[in-house]
Amino acid sequence: MQQLFTAELNAEDTPLSKDALCERAQDKTILVPTVTDTIDAEVIERLPAGLRLIANFGAGTDHIDLAAAKARGITVTNTPGVLAEDTADMTMALLLAAPRRMAEAAQMVRNNAWNGWAPTQLMGRRVSGKKLGIVGMGRIGQAVARRAAGFGLSIHYHNRHQLHASVEEELKATYWDALDDMLQEVDLVSLNCPYNKQTHHLIDAKRLARMKDTAYLVNTSRGAVIDEAALAKALAEGWIAGAGLDVYEQEPKIHEGLMGLQNVVLLPHISSATIESRTAMGEKVLINIKSFVDGHNPPDRVLID
Ligand code: 8YV
Repeated sequence: MQQLFTAELNAEDTPLSKDALCERAQDKTILVPTVTDTIDAEVIERLPAGLRLIANFGAGTDHIDLAAAKARGITVTNTPGVLAEDTADMTMALLLAAPRRMAEAAQMVRNNAWNGWAPTQLMGRRVSGKKLGIVGMGRIGQAVARRAAGFGLSIHYHNRHQLHASVEEELKATYWDALDDMLQEVDLVSLNCPYNKQTHHLIDAKRLARMKDTAYLVNTSRGAVIDEAALAKALAEGWIAGAGLDVYEQEPKIHEGLMGLQNVVLLPHISSATIESRTAMGEKVLINIKSFVDGHNPPDRVLID
């Protein structure tokens, strides 16, 4: 970034406050936020008139008020695709870790509480042969489907649009138009949809109650796709068997009802945290900025309806 442009970096691995961000943006033409920078209508209003591009480091853009950016004629880009495989790997890891109780087991060893093998110790549930329901069948959802097939899971999915028949056939995926119907049928649920008004609390108390009491829920998309308070209750009361979460409604805060539970694996938003993904995301940010400043349409322009 510094080789190509006059760049002022936030060299700390911690986010700037809203005021600090707005202040440091005053003489800039381009802003590169991450998921921890809330670029809401107020921030957009406070950006200088010369700021023309928000080149997000990340695929999800729910922390940016896209309509407010559009109204001010600011272009927004993101980094899709390059993190899909790593996110799918982590989704798969959680789909295995939750039913096989890996977090609890690892903790037991670390706590010096393991006294040796026992016939009924830490029994979980088998993964192979079960039904996986994927909510959101974009790049990440499809990458999850390909991996899950190798683990002997049958693939079910709910999406805004049904996939092309040839893709469905390749993934051996069954489409469910009604999410509620799919939820009561599957054993594992993976959330891989973007977060927006339509997906806010998509998984709420009513839908958790529809799921099997032996089912597991995994979320590597955005926290607020789930009503976290309802999930904490569902897990505590056994409406579902367990969950694996990488994302939360109010990061880095996690609903305290979840913190004390053994049947949920809690990760700190690390699905794309590989050297390879983060480097490729940075490359995409640079390509988007470079093409924009050279007067071209940046490849990952986020289209705003
Ligand atoms: C990123 C993510 O690390 O790309 C996304 O949408 O959720 C994460 O994997 C983060 O957004 C970086 O800003």
